[in-house]
Parts: sequence; C-alpha cells; structure tokens
Amino acid sequence: MRYMQPFVTEVDFASGALSSPGYVIQRKLSDMAAMYADEAAASRILAQEGDRLIYEVQGVELPAEEGQIPHCTTRILPGRVGAEYHMTKGHYHARREQGEVYFGLSGRGYLVMQTESGETSVQEMVAGSAAYVPPYWAHRTVNVGDEDFVFFSVWEARAGHDYGTIERDGFRKLVVMRDGGPLVADNPNYT
Ligand SMILES: [Fe+2]
Repeated sequence: MRYMQPFVTEVDFASGALSSPGYVIQRKLSDMAAMYADEAAASRILAQEGDRLIYEVQGVELPAEEGQIPHCTTRILPGRVGAEYHMTKGHYHARREQGEVYFGLSGRGYLVMQTESGETSVQEMVAGSAAYVPPYWAHRTVNVGDEDFVFFSVWEARAGHDYGTIERDGFRKLVVMRDGGPLVADNPNYT
C-alpha cells in the first residue's frame, strides 16, 4: 500500500461540485436510452429535443488499492423519460461483498436496490439521509423531486463496478410518476 498525504475537498451541497475534482463523468440520455422502460419516449426526446444531461459525477482520484476509500458526488437532474424519473445507470459491485454509504446533500430521491437472489428494497433519501447499501445489493438512485437530487458516496477502492449485469437485465423495480408523485412499479422489461 502506498503512503499518501491527507487532503480536504470542499463540496457544494446544492450542485455536488467539488473544489478540485479528480474526474467528472456526465451521463446523457443517449448513453442510457435503452435503460428506460419506455424506449420510444427516449427516442422521441432524442429526436425532438436533442440529447439531455441526466446526471453528473464528480470524484477524487485515488488508486484502486486495498484500504483506499474513494468518494464522489452525484447530481441527478430533475425530469422524466416517459413516466420514469431520471436515474443513474446503477450497478453491482464487481466484488459483490463490498458495501457503500450514500449521504443526501440536497433534493429528494429514491435509492433502488436489489440482490441477485431476487430481493428488492427502495428507500427514500433527502438532504441529511445516510443510506447504507449492504454487500450484494445492486444500487441505482432516482430523482423523484423537481430540483437537482445530490448525494455523496463513499466506498472501498477494490469494490469495482459491474454495470453490465444491469445493462443486460435491468432492475426489477422502476420509479414512475403516477398522480403527480412517485410510484414504485414492476419493470415489465426485467429479464
Ligand atoms: Fe456502488
């Protein structure tokens, strides 16, 4: 393990901006159109309005070594694709036995989780919520409000990201607007 100097990063709670991000990732609708249940709605938005920023991640750059604790912010913009609220791609950890902690900074969201053995859990997060994603649970966040939903994430460096399983199978549950508010529904496309 390498020896490092301590450091502090300033976090803007409203935007998730870091004072000196090591990396910034932007996910647009075109990057994840197939992940929305209503793919026709995604295609319509892309054709009529053009591409749209769904979420942005800003993180500190750390070596992927045992003992390192990467951390980042995620800002999900408000909006929907069809009835489905804007969301992250979601992932399992490549090392399934690694958990993660989320801390809500602003806005309002749902944390959608599932295990490979078929359990699901959906938790609400607001500013001040500390949410625990235990080992073995895939996790996706959803902005169910009408302002940015911003949260801070902390995980272990060797957890790794397995996006492929979710890209292939999807999540069992999706979050849609019904009667003006969020409703957790079964995903008709889940395989
Ligand atoms: Fe994660």
